[in-house]
Amino acid sequence: MENKATRNAVVDVRGVPLQVPIAKYFTRVDEFQAHKDDLLIATYPKAGTTWTQEIVDLILNKGNEEKCRRAPTHVRMPFLEMTTLDPAESGMAKLEKMAPPRVIKTHLPIQLVPRSFWEAGCKVIYMARNPKDNVVSYFHFDCMNLTQPEPGPWPEYLKKFMKGELGWGSWYDHVKGFWREKQKNKNILYLFYEDMKEDPSREVLRIAEFLGKPLSKSVVDDIVHLTTFDSMRDNPMANYSTIPDSVFDRKASEFMRKGEFLLYVRSE
Ligand code: A3P
Repeated sequence: MENKATRNAVVDVRGVPLQVPIAKYFTRVDEFQAHKDDLLIATYPKAGTTWTQEIVDLILNKGNEEKCRRAPTHVRMPFLEMTTLDPAESGMAKLEKMAPPRVIKTHLPIQLVPRSFWEAGCKVIYMARNPKDNVVSYFHFDCMNLTQPEPGPWPEYLKKFMKGELGWGSWYDHVKGFWREKQKNKNILYLFYEDMKEDPSREVLRIAEFLGKPLSKSVVDDIVHLTTFDSMRDNPMANYSTIPDSVFDRKASEFMRKGEFLLYVRSE
């Protein structure tokens, strides 16, 4: 029998709205023991996390497509704070069974990232997306993901976004928090979704350099090709098609929705 997903409300965790089940086991997340070789991919929800994850996995596997199709994204690179109806499937449960070096996804704002990541000196890749596209993408996602809080009508949703009341809190504080930290912490690579759209080869090379994994031009080209919107939309290991319809209501929206941007904010 398939468990039915239910929409979670959010509650305050140290000033940040998080879904109730995440809040309930937040102490466990807080005590997570990162290893120095673990890599954290941090984003505000819907900023291009899955895209970044796929690029990183391909870089770490020297562009080997087959290896990167070994499992769905959330199994290859678990989502730190994510809870599931089956506790054995939660992000923490998966991570505790994996040997470092692990690639770990989080949407936590910087002040809630477990201390061990900083103490161990882990590398962190942060991806930011302009707020207009980010909130539109988040709205469609909340309509389709039946574990997310009820989005309600768009005008109210937009107000909640601007007030920092959606899950994982304020977009403004999120992007600023990691931006400030990266000024003093060389282990943070700060990326922009729009830069990645503008010149994916350049950004793949930046990530590879940051990870200390030099790539030949042909491998960069392969990675760019394998991580276009169309390639990822058609890749069952990168498009979340393994998530059942009882959780992702695909009549409301696809996970790989549009992958476009309206507003370009230069990073320099
Ligand atoms: P849209 O809803 O605007 O289409 P996340 O992975 O953080 O949940 O972000 C999802 C957003 O990134 C979605 O945006 C999705 O379509 C987009 N996305 C995923 N893969 C992409 C890719 N290869 N190129 C461009 N956008 C991508």
